[in-house]
Amino acid sequence: MSSYPIIVFEGIEGSGKSYLSKKLFKSLKKRRINTILTREPGGTELAEAIREAMLAKWQEEITGLTEVLLVFAAREQHLKNVIRPNLERGTWVVCDRFTDATFAYQGEARGVDAEIIERLEQWVQVDLYPDLTFFLDLPPEESESRIAGREKDRMESENRDFFQKVRSGYIRRAKGHKRYCILDASRPLEEVVSDLRHRLLNFVQENS
Ligand code: TMP
Repeated sequence: MSSYPIIVFEGIEGSGKSYLSKKLFKSLKKRRINTILTREPGGTELAEAIREAMLAKWQEEITGLTEVLLVFAAREQHLKNVIRPNLERGTWVVCDRFTDATFAYQGEARGVDAEIIERLEQWVQVDLYPDLTFFLDLPPEESESRIAGREKDRMESENRDFFQKVRSGYIRRAKGHKRYCILDASRPLEEVVSDLRHRLLNFVQENS
């Protein structure tokens, strides 16, 4: 771990990552660890506006490459104005999604060449990568039933095949990176929380 940690939550829709990132944030604060909770795309005024544009339903076709460029523009703002300054002042960062989502959604599911994403990743992030990434793994059919009845944005309106590819993309990334921790998100929430606590404790012990 380079300085203070960035802990990321990833997963398909309905996997519980937003709930769990909030829960982790609260528990770190309780332990008096300076922490911020943020999300991607988003986290700054402009990045949140980019998020809105990214998730809105448009009449024209939105290409996978356009999505990549949008999320990296948002990421640049987020890193420059929120993530880096917080890490420099000794704050932990808990982030709901980061670049692995770009590899999974735009790379694997939209078919954008991974090399393009890797180049932008190096260009925008330079030396900054997550220290720990929780991937909340959920089958797409379970995700569908969890988000049924919700008003869906442009990404959530994609079909099962799309989310199957997103899931495979995450699994492929998880296998290639030691920082990944895969949690079976189809289990009851208390089990997922207890597993997460255990993994986090290991992470803190290994890095202190
Ligand atoms: P959510 O995190 O609230 O589910 O919404 C964010 C959406 O943006 C989600 O559908 C995944 C998508 N997304 C990408 O497609 N690429 C990215 O790089 C990121 C960070 C998110």
